[in-house]
Formats: sequence, structure tokens, C-alpha cells
Amino acid sequence: MRIFQDMGRLLQERWLKAQHSEEAFPDIAAEVLRELAPHQAFQTLEPLEWLYGTRDFPKQLTTRPGFGQPALTVFSDSRLLIDLYYWVDGTTDIHQHGFCGAFQVLQGSSIHGHYRWHERNKVNSRVAFGDMELLSVTGLFKGDIQRILGGDRYIHSLFHLERPSVTCVVRTLHSPEGGYQYSYKKPHLAYYPGVEDAHTSKVLQSLSLLAELKPPERTRLISGLIERSDILTCFLVFERLLQLHKKLEALDPYWDVAVRAHGGLAEELRPVFKEYMRQALLIDRRGQVKDPEHRYFLALLLNVERGEHIQQLVRQRFPDRDPVELIMKWVTALTQPVEAGGRARDSLGVPLDESALIVFRELLHSRGHAEVMARLKESFDDAEVEGQSDDIAALAASLRESTLFQPLFRR
Ligand SMILES: [Fe+2]
Repeated sequence: MRIFQDMGRLLQERWLKAQHSEEAFPDIAAEVLRELAPHQAFQTLEPLEWLYGTRDFPKQLTTRPGFGQPALTVFSDSRLLIDLYYWVDGTTDIHQHGFCGAFQVLQGSSIHGHYRWHERNKVNSRVAFGDMELLSVTGLFKGDIQRILGGDRYIHSLFHLERPSVTCVVRTLHSPEGGYQYSYKKPHLAYYPGVEDAHTSKVLQSLSLLAELKPPERTRLISGLIERSDILTCFLVFERLLQLHKKLEALDPYWDVAVRAHGGLAEELRPVFKEYMRQALLIDRRGQVKDPEHRYFLALLLNVERGEHIQQLVRQRFPDRDPVELIMKWVTALTQPVEAGGRARDSLGVPLDESALIVFRELLHSRGHAEVMARLKESFDDAEVEGQSDDIAALAASLRESTLFQPLFRR
């Protein structure tokens, strides 16, 4: 743990020489991480041993659980700090930063998404509408360093592959251009996720009571609430309803009133919640998936929007393998029915039979209906396949639209 003290002292020294310039800090932070290389001697449990034994505990960035599983501040002064973040199942929201600095992967690896935000409509300081553009998806490995620039100059998300993955963040306490630390929801929303006002906080808490008791008045009560709320509160209420009920249909009774109250802004939330549910499902399934290759595949489904990009990334990571065959291997394993009484194994809970897997492979190759039919006839009776032509077309359409797999088939 000595290394983080040395890092802290070196950062203090070099940043002072740069007149505490926030513009200079990301380079200084990256340089110090590179020079002292804390990943080299890092041992998973050493920070916990230090935590349990220290009498010299630095001021923590936060004492609330939340970001990190856990997060530990290992060095801090009044201007900068060094944090360690453990991740077991954590997937970060797409977010920007109200500070600047750099981070290094100490252990494990992650899929890193880098985004640009094109703002169309800033509603107030806490919420804006626009379009998210995915700039790149790359792997981050032990020792890799990324600079963190404040505000919307660096928008990213991380999906951690190993359990645990550990990152070291070197950062300023604040950064003047940082402002509110926005989270982003694909495809159209930027918002500040912290609820600071007591009224909204109590409103959100009360929704759990309504979900629990299911009184007949609940639709009327929630409709009235949405009618009298601003668009950010409307979003937070809808988000809470989805967390409680875990299905998109939970919002059906409230869209009319939301559109009446907020017009086009409410319409922009429809695709946001559709994607929100897709991601929630993938993140939920990820908890049951332990194999690193399968977790990698889920990370791609979560982060990458088009099939050709997914195949490119698979080719980069596994250059000796055919990407379609490798994806089929993962899909086959992840969609096998769980054996009754058998041991738990990776499962997405969406069983696909042999013919569905054949159709799946043809769709990955962007093949049309005639080719799908021809391929099925190689494995099944011609007349039988011909007789089910409409069902096969419907199966192909449902795979293309399937919540989990749709990015694979999007061109
Ligand atoms: Fe971040």
C-alpha cells in the first residue's frame, strides 16, 4: 500500500509545478500511473488487509455504497485523491465526470465503450435530450491507462469481464468545467441521476408501497403525479416503475398522460425505455453467466449496436477463429435448456432448438429466406420444411427483433 502514498506525494509535487492546472492533470496522472505501475505488484486482498488494520485512514470520497464493490480511497488531500474500485458484477452507466485524471486496470479486464453526445435540447442543468454516438468499443487489460477529461469530453462505460476486476483512479476532487456528472441513456437522454430534493426522493420511495399493496387507485395516483411533474421527475418515476415491475408494459397506462404533459419530450423517452429494458435484461442475465468468453459476448450485446462491428471485435480478440462459428458456439451454450436437477450453468433462459440455431447462423451471414430454407432442407425433410415456410419466416423475424440478440442482426 506504500505505493499509493508514493504516488500521492509525486502527484502533489508535479501538479504544484503545473500550478494545479486542471488541463495538465490528466497527463500528470497518466504519467505517474505509468511510472509507478501499481498493477505490477497488485494483490487482490492487500487493500482489504490494509483497511482492516490501518489507524491512518484517509478521508474517503464517499461512505455510501454505490459506485464500486467496494470503492476505497487510499490517498487523499484537499485537491486530489487515489481510489481503488473493485467490480464483481458491476456495469457502469454511460457517464461523464465532474473531475479529471486517469485510471489504470490493476486486475482483470473490461470492455470499454467510448461515446460522443450530440445535444439537441438542454431542458435545464440536470436534463438534456440529444443523440449518443458510439465512437469505439475496445478491450482494456491489466496495466492499460485511460485519461479522464472533465465534462462531455470523455463519456464512457465499462463492462468488467473478470471477477473481480480492479481499477485505480487518480483524480482531482472537482473540475470547474465538470458541472453535474451526467449519466446517459441510449439513444436520447442525458441526466443527473442524483436525487437531491426531498419531494422527488419521497415520491420515488412511495412507488414501492404502491407496487407492494397494488391498490385500485394506483393508476389514477401515478397519472396525477406525472401530470404535475417535470420531465426529469417523469423519467425517474418511469425508471422506478420498471425497476419494480421489470417489464415495459408497466408504463403502458402512463404514456398518454406523459405525452399530454410533456409533448415531444415524452415521445423521446419511448426508445430510451425500450433500450433500458433490453440492457436491464442483459445485466440481470450476466449475474448467472460466469464463463469469461460468455461474459465477453454479453458485453458486446450490451455495448455494440451493429452486427458487423460485433463480428469485427470477435475477430480481433480471437484472430484464429471464424467469428460466426464462435458466436454460434456461445449462442448454443447460452441457450441450452438447463438440465432438470443438473448443475447450474451459463444460461440466458431463452432455449433455441436445432432448427432455430440453423436459422440463427444463416441470419448472422445476412442470408435471405430462400437460403435459410435451403439450409434447413439439408437437415430436415424437404416437404416438411416447405410446409413450414411461413413459420420459418416468422422465426427469422422474431430472432432479428429479439431483445437479447437484435444487435447481431442490425446492419
Ligand atoms: Fe468513469
